[in-house]
Amino acid sequence: MKQYDRYLITSALPYANGPLHIGHLAGAYLSADIYARFRRMMGEDVVFVCGSDEHGAAITLRAAKDGITPQEVVDRYHNLFKETFDRIGISFDIYHRTSAELHHETSQEFFTNLYEKGEFEEIESEQYYDEEQNQFLADRYIIGTCPKCGHEEAYGDQCEKCGSTLSPTDLINPRSTISGSTPVMRKTTHWYLPLNKYEAWLKEWVVNGEKDDKKLHYPEEWKNHVLGQCNSWLDGGLNPRSMTRDLSWGVDVPHNIPGHEGKKLYVWMDAPIGYISATKQWAADNKKDWEPYWKDENTALLHFIGKDNIVFHCLIFPSILNAHGDYILPVNVPANQFMNLEGKKLSTSKNWAVWVHEYLDELPGQEDELRYCMIKNMPETKDSEFTWKSFQEANNSELVNNLANFVNRVVVLVNKYYDGVVPSFDENQDLIGASDPMDAAYHDSEILRLFDDMDIVCSHIRNFEFRNALQKLMEISSNGNTILQANEPWKAQKTDPESVKVVMNLAMQYVATLSVAIKPFLPFTSDKMRKLINLPLADDNSGYLDLTNDLSEGIHPIADGHKIGSPDHLFSRIDDSVIEAQVAKLQANAKSNEAAKEETAEETYAPIKEEIAFDDFMKMDIRTATITEATKVKKADKLLQLTLDLGFETRTVVSGIAEHYAPEDIIGQQVCLLANLAPRKIRGVESKGMVLMAEDASGKLVFVNPSEASFANGGGVR
Ligand code: MF3
Ligand code: ZN
Repeated sequence: MKQYDRYLITSALPYANGPLHIGHLAGAYLSADIYARFRRMMGEDVVFVCGSDEHGAAITLRAAKDGITPQEVVDRYHNLFKETFDRIGISFDIYHRTSAELHHETSQEFFTNLYEKGEFEEIESEQYYDEEQNQFLADRYIIGTCPKCGHEEAYGDQCEKCGSTLSPTDLINPRSTISGSTPVMRKTTHWYLPLNKYEAWLKEWVVNGEKDDKKLHYPEEWKNHVLGQCNSWLDGGLNPRSMTRDLSWGVDVPHNIPGHEGKKLYVWMDAPIGYISATKQWAADNKKDWEPYWKDENTALLHFIGKDNIVFHCLIFPSILNAHGDYILPVNVPANQFMNLEGKKLSTSKNWAVWVHEYLDELPGQEDELRYCMIKNMPETKDSEFTWKSFQEANNSELVNNLANFVNRVVVLVNKYYDGVVPSFDENQDLIGASDPMDAAYHDSEILRLFDDMDIVCSHIRNFEFRNALQKLMEISSNGNTILQANEPWKAQKTDPESVKVVMNLAMQYVATLSVAIKPFLPFTSDKMRKLINLPLADDNSGYLDLTNDLSEGIHPIADGHKIGSPDHLFSRIDDSVIEAQVAKLQANAKSNEAAKEETAEETYAPIKEEIAFDDFMKMDIRTATITEATKVKKADKLLQLTLDLGFETRTVVSGIAEHYAPEDIIGQQVCLLANLAPRKIRGVESKGMVLMAEDASGKLVFVNPSEASFANGGGVR
C-alpha cells in the first residue's frame, strides 16, 4: 500500500557565492538524491527540486570582494553548480534559481498574501547604519565581537564560532563589514512575522507531530538532533522576525505596499519559496500541474538540509506556509550535521575544502568512489570526517576488494564455463556431490535471503539511514563472495559441474540484484554493471519495485539462458601517490590563502603618512612617564584625563584611549610622552603633551612601552 500519492523532495538552495565542496554534498544533496532515486525506483511520483540561492549578503559581499556585480557572481556560480551537480549524478528534476522572474513573482505573491491577511506586524526600530556607504547593516553586513564566546568576527545574525544566533545589537564593538566604519543608529520600518504567536502550534506540529489531532510526521519520529534544535528555540521563546531588509539586491517588497521603497525581502523569506518557484517551472516545462505537489495533503514534502538551516526549515518557513494557509507542511526535515575535512572544519574562506568540480577534473570517472566515501561517512546524526586516507581505504578494501572483485569473478567464470550464458540447473534433482548442499532448495532459500536483505535496505532508506543501507548492500556483495569462497567453483567444476551451475546461477542473481539495488547510491556503477551483464539500465521509474516484487515471488532477477557481456573492472585501486598529492594540494591551498589574506589585510591598513625629514623627527622631545591617576572625561566617550609623573614634574594630559582602556587598569602604566607638544584645551581641561600609542593590526591602541620602544621603526604614533 502506498503511503503518499507523491513526493516533493527539496535540497537546500546553495548560495551562489562559491563552488560546491564535499561538505555541501554530504549535507543536503547526496542524501536527497538517494532518497529521490529510491522513491522513483519504487514507482512513486517524485519531483526533486533545487536551485541557486542568489540573494542575501553572501552574494553582495562576495561581489564587493571580487570587484564584480552581484549578477556576475550569481551567473558564474549558478552555472558551475548546475554543471557540477550533473557531473556527480545528483538527479534533480529541475535546478532553478532565485533571480528568475518567476521566483520574484512567486515570492512577491506570497508576501502580498500574508500582508493582506494582516499577518505581518509593521515595526519601527533603530538599526545600525553605515554612514560612509549609506546603508543599513543587518545580518552579515555587520560584524563585531560575539557576546557569548568573544569571537571577534561574529556576524549580525550568527556567530560562526560558537553557533549562537545573534542580532546586530548583541555585538560588542560592531563595525560595518563593507567599510569597516563604526555604525550609527537610524530609524527604519519593517514587516515582521510574529513567530511568538505561532509558538503553540509550532510545538504541536514539530514536537508532537500533530496538527488538529492528525498524525503528521513521517516516519513517526524526526531525527533527535533536529528536534533538539527546535526544542531549544521553542524553549527560549520566539520573537517577531523581520521579513524585509533595507538593501539594493534581492526581491523587491511588492510595489503596491505602502512604504515599499528601498525595501527587499529578507533572503530567508524568499529563498525557501524558491522550492515552490522551482516546482512551478518544472511543471511548466513538463506540462504538469504544480499545485498538487504543494497543496494536496497526500503529498510528502521533505526538506533535505544541513544543520545550520534547521530553524528556517522547521520553524520559520513552516510558519510562513501555515500563515498562507493553502500549503502543506513538510512531513520530515532529515537534516544532516557537518562533515569535517582532515581534522578541521571545512571552510570556503580559508580554502580548506575539496571542491567537487576539481575532484571530478583530477580523478575523472571516479564519481561513485567519492559518492561511496561520502555516504559511508554521512553526518546523519553527528558530525563526521572525510580524510583522503579513509577515501583510499574505502575504495581499495571495500569497492575494489569486495564489490568489484565479486562482480568480476562471477562475470569471468560465467564467461569461462558457459560462454557467458547464465546456466540453468535442474530444479527437481537433489544434487549430491562435493559441494552439497548446492541444490535447488538451497538456491531458493538464498533468493529468500536476498529478498530479506533488500527489505532491510529499503527500510533503512525510508528512515533516512543511508549509511546503514549502503553497509547492507556491501554485506550482500560480501555474502556473494562468501558463496564463491565456500563452494570453490573453480575446483568443483571438474568434479561436480551440475552443482557449479547452481552456484554460478545464484552468484548471477546476486550480481543482478546488486546492479539495481546500488543505483540510488552509486548510479554510475549500476549502469556499468548493467552493461557488464547485458541488461537494460536499472529502471529509474520502478527498478526497486520490480526487483523486490520479483524476489518476493521467487522470480529470478536474471533469467537462465541470458547472455552476459565480457568482463571489465568496476573499480581500481587508488595509489598512495594520488592521495598524497591531494593532501599536499589541500595544505598548499590553505597556505597560499593565508598569504593572500595577509596581503589584502595590509592593503586595508591606513596608508602611511607623507614622509618627514629626520630633523622634523628630532624636534620631538619624547620622555618616559608613569600614569598615577586616570579618570573619565564627562560626556566624552573616548577621553581619559591622565595625571603623569615624569620624575621631575607632574602633568595633566587628555588622551583618547577610553574605548580601549578602563581607568583603573592603567594606573602605574609606563608610557612615552611627547613632552614638547603645544598645550591644548580639550573639553575644558588643559592637556600638556601627548601619550604615544601604537595601533595594532586590529585597530586597537596599545601603549608604546618605554622599556621596549625603539623609535627607529615606531608604529603609528598618535
Ligand atoms: N542558501 C542557504 C545556505 O546555503 C540555504 C537556503 S535553503 C532555502 O545556507 F530554503 F532557503 F532555500
Ligand atoms: Zn560566539
